[in-house]
Amino acid sequence: MELRLCLVLALAIGCFVKCSEARHSVARRSNDVNYVDDEAGDDLLADAASDDDTQNDAEGGDEEEEVEDAIIITQSTNYSVDLGSNVRLACQVSPSVGVVVQWRRGTVKYFLGTMKPTEQLLQTYGIDERFSIAPNSTDLLIRDVQPDDSGVYSCEILQENLPSIHHRVAVLESPRIREFIATDNGRVTEGADLVLTCDVTGSPPPKIVWSRDGPNGNERLHERDGEFFNNSVLIRNVNRQHTGKYYCYAFNPIGSNQAEVNVHVKGKPRVHVHRTVVNSAVNVEAVLQCAVHDDSDVRIRWYKDGQLVSNTGAYAVVSAGSRSNLTVIPESDAHFGTYTCEAENDLGKHNRSIDLVQSPVVENLDADGPKLSWTIHSHQPLRQIEIQLRQAGGEGEWRTITVPLPEERRHVYNQVYLLEDVESGKYEATVRVQNDKSWSHSDSALFDIEVQPELIQHASVYRGGSDSLRPTMLALTTLIYLLVRM
Ligand SMILES: *[C@@H]1O[C@H](CO)[C@@H](O)[C@H](O)[C@H]1NC(C)=O
Ligand SMILES: *[C@@H]1O[C@H](CO)[C@@H](O)[C@H](O)[C@H]1NC(C)=O
Ligand SMILES: *[C@@H]1O[C@H](CO)[C@@H](O)[C@H](O)[C@H]1NC(C)=O
Ligand SMILES: *[C@@H]1O[C@H](CO)[C@@H](O)[C@H](O)[C@H]1NC(C)=O
Ligand SMILES: *[C@@H]1O[C@H](CO)[C@@H](O)[C@H](O)[C@H]1NC(C)=O
Repeated sequence: MELRLCLVLALAIGCFVKCSEARHSVARRSNDVNYVDDEAGDDLLADAASDDDTQNDAEGGDEEEEVEDAIIITQSTNYSVDLGSNVRLACQVSPSVGVVVQWRRGTVKYFLGTMKPTEQLLQTYGIDERFSIAPNSTDLLIRDVQPDDSGVYSCEILQENLPSIHHRVAVLESPRIREFIATDNGRVTEGADLVLTCDVTGSPPPKIVWSRDGPNGNERLHERDGEFFNNSVLIRNVNRQHTGKYYCYAFNPIGSNQAEVNVHVKGKPRVHVHRTVVNSAVNVEAVLQCAVHDDSDVRIRWYKDGQLVSNTGAYAVVSAGSRSNLTVIPESDAHFGTYTCEAENDLGKHNRSIDLVQSPVVENLDADGPKLSWTIHSHQPLRQIEIQLRQAGGEGEWRTITVPLPEERRHVYNQVYLLEDVESGKYEATVRVQNDKSWSHSDSALFDIEVQPELIQHASVYRGGSDSLRPTMLALTTLIYLLVRM
């Protein structure tokens, strides 16, 4: 032993001295123990190589052998370990024999020397067979690393100065979504609370981003969309707009994972009708169309003036899923009237009505500058069409403008009429139409008429030849000319 180790006491000055024969050095300074291993020792001690070998030998020979404290050669290290793999936590000590090493994690003592942990320890701390001391060493071996194995492991030598090192073990696990669930399997009723829970594991603990497929594609859920806690999101008082596909996206530095769940918010049915007024005539087939929005478990029924319509005679009902058509071939005036489409599910019912009429149906009244347009549906011949117009505000007098009847007889007439003698301003207009059965009129429409200067100039070019120009328009043109010249 004396030959292998050359010990130099440097209690006051703490200097290194080379041991040329053994090429193995230990430097001691007061209570600290600094060990320098073979390779590092060569470098560190290179400067000291010029020291007098003879002197060292002499000194070494003079010293009495002391009982040397054991030391830990290994440095504290951080270990990153993949889940399920094995890890060997090094703790090399010197001397390697006759030293008692204790491994512990926090206050939990794992091994004393190479002894197996006691049954009591195993039970108390759940230490299992995955932990062992590597053969012929003082290293701790952990097999099949689990997420809970993350932590700080200390290796210490049981001697008075208790040298120790502390290894930090981080178990790395890509996020794994064990389950992504929604309240009642995602089938919730309007007004209820929806909880989505994303049960995810991983190390470091994954973060979650919630999103859903919305009208503008995949949209992230924000604080205003729900309450976020742990691995869940709570959306209170859901409505139909909450129906859709929800995503849980979990990520940590190791990787990411994603799961999705479908949510369907069920409510009272909502009935929509294609048209609210339908024109027909005796022996002319009319199709009344009804649709129920996004609800499959509905019963659809038709009523005529409050009486259930049966699929016979003048009527044919064809329903497919959430849609239904009632085809009517009126045999007499009695088949005209109000038809109601009603949808019912276990949460309630809703209806919308359609009037089947013989009078004209006038709709889509619109204005583009002084140009008015509208549509007339009438299976009966048209008798008269007129526009009623007044300045908006309710004060002005109604003016009636007679519109020429279309030459051809059809069922649908798309009409356009240019108002020729109006000034710029806000107007209110209605179109009244009479057919063989009766009069009816459009909804009244409000619009701005702006008489464009270009239009006036354009018109003024053809002033001489055009007899469609009215005095008012000419007066206006002249006025604008004057204004421009001034
Ligand atoms: C180990 O990790 C801890 C915390 O992450 C850090 O403070 C320390 O510096 C690391 N030690 C080494 C040797 O990398
Ligand atoms: C076990 O330790 C002894 C003494 O320290 C050493 O001679 C031997 O080589 C070691 N065996 C292994 C497999 O490391
Ligand atoms: C979050 O999880 C913790 C631990 O699992 C639990 O104690 C706590 O009640 C949860 N918080 C909510 C709001 O559910
Ligand atoms: C349609 O709904 C209204 C309002 O809920 C109800 O008063 C009416 O009786 C319903 N009509 C039919 C034919 O079911
Ligand atoms: C209802 O009628 C329309 C127009 O004729 C047709 O496109 C639609 O497929 C019909 N729907 C059903 C359920 O028969």
